[in-house]
Amino acid sequence: MRRREYEGAGDFRLMQELIQRTWNPRSRLHIGDVAWERSVNAARRGTGWRTAFWEDGGQVVAWGWAELPDHLSLVVDPAQPDVAAEVIAWFQALAQDGACSILEDETHLSSALEAAGFRPDESAPYFTHHRISLDELRTPVVPEGFVLRHVEPAEVERRAEGHRAAWSDWGPSKVTDEDFAAVMSAWPYQRELDWVVEAPNGDFAASALIWYDDVNQVGLVEPVGCAPQYRRRGLAQAVNLAALHALRDAGATSATVCPRGDDAYPKARALYQSIGFKPGARSKLYVPS
Ligand SMILES: CC(C)(COP(=O)(O)OP(=O)(O)OC[C@H]1O[C@@H](n2cnc3c(N)ncnc32)[C@H](O)[C@@H]1OP(=O)(O)O)[C@@H](O)C(=O)NCCC(=O)NCCS
Repeated sequence: MRRREYEGAGDFRLMQELIQRTWNPRSRLHIGDVAWERSVNAARRGTGWRTAFWEDGGQVVAWGWAELPDHLSLVVDPAQPDVAAEVIAWFQALAQDGACSILEDETHLSSALEAAGFRPDESAPYFTHHRISLDELRTPVVPEGFVLRHVEPAEVERRAEGHRAAWSDWGPSKVTDEDFAAVMSAWPYQRELDWVVEAPNGDFAASALIWYDDVNQVGLVEPVGCAPQYRRRGLAQAVNLAALHALRDAGATSATVCPRGDDAYPKARALYQSIGFKPGARSKLYVPS
């Protein structure tokens, strides 16, 4: 077993390859989570990100992504569960008080975290995985004058502007045009799966981006938003449905999304459940005991 640090752009794909190779419906992360989180935040990471790989016979069997000082994400091949202890020890050496979030079903990770002295924080906000089969999708409908379509490559600035408009409820969104350009050039971004509702005045009123894992035939919806002045008119529902239809056309059989599951932020899960997504396992934040 060899540990090495993240060395550059090619390693981004290696993180995704491990997720894709080991993905099952009980996995916390989909390849799109890493594509979105790392590309949209890359410019702001400073020296706060540390990523390490554990390789066995030339194959990546685990990685840890420490967002210092406080959070660890990790993926460990369930066929090699013992490596989880090494990833956690590496993180503890970097961040004594840091926490780690996993899906409750990832028992190879929860047992390693508990053995390392972590315990679940039952009062922390959490996320609930939701899943939809693409067999029966309703037809999307938008009000007269609004247009549903996918984004074009030359529309980075408009796409970024629409995202900022939808994601500024908690203060102005930090996402820049350059950040969105990074998202739109990250693998496996496809413009055919990046949908908007265009308002009569040309605003991108609502949007939904889906990342497709064609090996596991599953898409991840991330992110979704609707600008405040256009809300409660069915636009987020319609843009999701349109993107899900495109996902099915691309060959997928199901999609997942992971909204907040706790009652402090119920509207996102209400939206997905109104489309037909069914709730499943939840995330858990493990903190040092
Ligand atoms: C969540 C969000 C995308 C909803 O957009 P929207 O266009 O207003 O949603 P829709 O009009 O399509 O709503 C469809 C259904 O979702 C649910 N819903 C949407 N907003 C809701 C709210 N504020 N409270 C409760 N349920 C809500 C309802 O079931 C609604 O159907 P109804 O209007 O017939 O009751 C929007 O509020 C937003 O962008 N918020 C900030 C970003 C965000 O949270 N994104 C989702 C993160 S995973």
